[in-house]
Amino acid sequence: MLFDTHAHMDDRAFDDDREELLSSLPERGIALLMNPGCSLASSRAASRLSQEYDYIYAAVGSHPDAADEVDEAVLEEYRKLCKLNPKIKAIGEIGLDYHYEDIPRGIQQRAFRMQLELARELDLPVIVHEREAHEDGLKIISEFPEVTGVFHCYSGSAEMAKLLVERGWYIGFTGVLTFKNARKAVEVAQSIPLERIVLETDCPYMSPEPFRGKRNDPSRLCYMAEKLAQLRSLPVERIHEITVENGKRLYRI
Ligand code: NI
Repeated sequence: MLFDTHAHMDDRAFDDDREELLSSLPERGIALLMNPGCSLASSRAASRLSQEYDYIYAAVGSHPDAADEVDEAVLEEYRKLCKLNPKIKAIGEIGLDYHYEDIPRGIQQRAFRMQLELARELDLPVIVHEREAHEDGLKIISEFPEVTGVFHCYSGSAEMAKLLVERGWYIGFTGVLTFKNARKAVEVAQSIPLERIVLETDCPYMSPEPFRGKRNDPSRLCYMAEKLAQLRSLPVERIHEITVENGKRLYRI
């Protein structure tokens, strides 16, 4: 059994077959699933899904792409959702994305800080999306030493991963781990303690080989587990057990 620690089941890519897919996942090996929010609307949808399915948990937060919506009123909505639904286990996904700069960096940084502050207030872990913003990402999380969580779809160096692990963070790996040119992710997956690794699909994105480019879904998480088993020279069943335990410890389930 596996824990998909980051799956966007509220995404419109699943509008045609969401129910069918979600009811089939437990019998296809998915024991637990975390659905992070990307905006206020998506956080509400994630919260609803967690109330409809036993194995689904949710996080609330605004992605860097939606950073311009974050203000006190939105934070208050997140606070309310957390109070009403005990299956909301994290704030996320939040962070910085300097790859596309549709939202100016200053606005992304402000939203990231405000939501880290909310996580500190509510004593919840965070799900961080950080792309091409390693330096600012590290700087901002350092301002909140009490807050930890996961760097999802990790794209940083092995040195930065080591530093994050020392500070109590988890590292999330997607299908990128299975790509032929995944030298950096492979190096990180081999060098950090196994107890800090979580697996995720980030579906509908990031399909693993041999499905690269197609719509991803949680049933494909087994490909990431197989790859990690090879990289760490362990039986895949051990990887299943360890990463499920890690995900539960990360989200306090
Ligand atoms: Ni995501």
